[in-house]
Amino acid sequence: AAGRLWGGRFAGGPAEAMAELSRSTQFDWRLAPHDLDGSVAHANALLRVGLLTEGEHGEMVAALQRMREEVLAGTLTFDADDEDVHGALERILITRVGPDLGGRLRAGRSRNDQIATLIRRYLRAELRVVLADVVSVVDALAAQAGAHPDAVMPGRTHLQHAQPILLGHHLLAHAWPLLRDGQRVVDLDARLAVSPYGSSALAGGSLGLDPEAVAADLGFSGSVGNSIDGTAARDLVAESAFVLAQVGIDLSRLSEDVILWCTHEFGFATLDDAWSTGSSIMPQKKNPDVAELARGKAGRLIGNLTGLLATLKGLPLAYNRDLQEDKEPVFDSLDQLRVLVPAVAGMVGTLTFHPERMAALAPQGFSLATDVADWLVRRRVPFAEAHEIAGACVRRCEARGIGLEEMTADDLVAVSTHLTPELLPQLSVAASVRARDQRGGTAPARVAEQLAEVQELAAGL
Ligand code: ARG
Repeated sequence: AAGRLWGGRFAGGPAEAMAELSRSTQFDWRLAPHDLDGSVAHANALLRVGLLTEGEHGEMVAALQRMREEVLAGTLTFDADDEDVHGALERILITRVGPDLGGRLRAGRSRNDQIATLIRRYLRAELRVVLADVVSVVDALAAQAGAHPDAVMPGRTHLQHAQPILLGHHLLAHAWPLLRDGQRVVDLDARLAVSPYGSSALAGGSLGLDPEAVAADLGFSGSVGNSIDGTAARDLVAESAFVLAQVGIDLSRLSEDVILWCTHEFGFATLDDAWSTGSSIMPQKKNPDVAELARGKAGRLIGNLTGLLATLKGLPLAYNRDLQEDKEPVFDSLDQLRVLVPAVAGMVGTLTFHPERMAALAPQGFSLATDVADWLVRRRVPFAEAHEIAGACVRRCEARGIGLEEMTADDLVAVSTHLTPELLPQLSVAASVRARDQRGGTAPARVAEQLAEVQELAAGL
């Protein structure tokens, strides 16, 4: 039957509902270029052991390469009753080179080692695209940080005012997790670069084909050390789904900040028209839909990961058909990030910040209280006592309806004999951020160093 790779031991074909359930071509066809590359590498292996003549090999490889071009051009596709991409491509090959030659290709390989190899090769290629897109978000964050070297803002913990920080410091705090995601892609690639081809159904092949040579042909660094593991393992697909979910989560956290910053109450930033949407009824609206979709898609990416992990849990070795369910979740995660990540880069890169608004809010909520305590510590007051004195300053300012930066010499005397007027010039947002001058801190010089470090790491990915 068309596109079916088995049948000799069956008296009849599968029931319609059986075939319908079994069919994966509608989603695994996207692996066709990799399947055809795998077939060329396999034909090379068959040639090397004399199972194809030079002439047969030449004719077969030419047909496979023509098919690859047609698949990429969109002029070759599958039939409705092809069971999977492997069966569809063998059927098409046979229509082109005849059953005597086309029927030789399958020797020594199984769909089990084929699919395990194709999914790794596909993930390697797709993750490279994700990596480049993630780097573009890092670049957008770095560009915004570089454009606002002196802008200050309220730094928050528990979403409450905590200490003043530089806007650039906060923006770069979103760049680091994305850099680590990029690094995850790079080191995951080294694990994905091991080819299961040659594992055959589970036990390995008996025809003397060289898995290492096939792996090299396909751009892998080597072949698997265990054929059972080669066909049964899907941890690398799950790890890919994890990295994609983590990218989604990191973009979601960035997006939540953007959503807050663009509210009337925060007023820290305005979205560019090109990266926001309006309302069908409220004419004044400008909504942060990119950021909201990032937040929403993060949930979907987590679902794809957890669904896949649940599929794998408890599967006995080696191949089980359950493993066919690995593809759609990870394909979906890739498809979602393909549209999402460039949009987040566009949104971030075109945000207009309002430094005067952020500066006005930066000292509010008594965010300079730690500076009072640190000033006392530098004058040898024990920190626990300094904490109490700074707290008393806050209490006094709260009662008087002023900020810490508005205290007078009289306020200081009233609170503690340790407090002298020399403290007063230190009580400003600018002095506060300048003082946080250790590596990784929010002082302008440190943030400038950090920006250079981020840019260098991004360029290296
Ligand atoms: N379509 C299958 C999968 O995605 C590969 C084919 C293996 N099928 C089989 N009956 N052994 O996992």
